[in-house]
Amino acid sequence: MTTNGTPPDGTPVEETGPADAEPIVELRGAGKSYGNIRALHGVDLSVRPGRVTCVLGDNGAGKSTLIKIISGLHQHTEGEFLVDGAPVHFNTPREALDRGIATVYQDLATVPLMPVWRNFFLGSELTRGPWPVRRLDIARMKRTADDELRNMGIVLDDLDQPIGTLSGGQRQSVAIARAVHFGARVLILDEPTAALGVKQSGVVLKYIAAARDRGLGVIFITHNPHHAYMVGDHFSVLRLGTMELNAARSEVSLEELTNHMAGGAELAALKHELAQVRGVDVEGLPDADDLQAPVAAASEGTS
Ligand SMILES: Nc1ncnc2c1ncn2[C@@H]1O[C@H](COP(=O)(O)OP(=O)(O)OP(=O)(O)O)[C@@H](O)[C@H]1O
Ligand SMILES: [Mg+2]
Repeated sequence: MTTNGTPPDGTPVEETGPADAEPIVELRGAGKSYGNIRALHGVDLSVRPGRVTCVLGDNGAGKSTLIKIISGLHQHTEGEFLVDGAPVHFNTPREALDRGIATVYQDLATVPLMPVWRNFFLGSELTRGPWPVRRLDIARMKRTADDELRNMGIVLDDLDQPIGTLSGGQRQSVAIARAVHFGARVLILDEPTAALGVKQSGVVLKYIAAARDRGLGVIFITHNPHHAYMVGDHFSVLRLGTMELNAARSEVSLEELTNHMAGGAELAALKHELAQVRGVDVEGLPDADDLQAPVAAASEGTS
């Protein structure tokens, strides 16, 4: 495991999994200031094909700022941002999309009353016939949407139903399949499981894995270390705009990741404060030590 980007001896972080492909997207010491506010500082991130890179962090940690840089909505003000090894400065999300970087936002930008297949092709409709009698090629759009959804293992009863009638998890899944169909190489998912229950979250995690298996590099933003650990190959934890943890799966246990997210020391302080409040049972809360203990045991076991 490494903290603050580089290990003490300076050796590069080893990734697990298949032979290491070159990163599609890479940040090196990247940062972003909004006027006097430094939202992000010194961030290193590599997104490789067929890998899920998880970005975790509490509210205000800088997760959205990070993806806004990669998706072309904002520009970094420090460090480097590279795509296919060459430095870039995107001016618009369109430029990022042209390089194969697609973002699925939590609000999903769908038209709820339009059918599923129509939303699948929104803004990129297929047409047939010559101008001026060019018409929407509805049959081909339905067929293609159906094929692509099935390829991802998504089975919907009826593609004519309004997308607003699908569950949150299903809508996320359609958005993922859509990005895959339109040639995304990097898929950014901003908290896709945040508003979902356990079962629906499972559905979305399944399609994150499916996108990874199709060779996409996935950036999975989440508050939830359990969700991250189910599909993640690499974990970056942001705290107050800097990287507190940057570790491959082989270097970090779920307990350790959870502890980083919980903030062991902060939790201990909070427990102390809560103990002063009448009626709050702090006995049930874990100690920072308890959170550390399984980590130490796990790393002893694996080394
Ligand atoms: N446009 C902006 N102008 C000024 N400050 C900003 C702007 N956008 C974000 N910030 C600040 O940057 C910091 C990081 O915000 P960011 O939205 O990236 O956090 P986040 O990790 O996505 O949080 P959340 O989990 O709440 O979505 C915050 O302190 C925020 O107030
Ligand atoms: Mg955010």
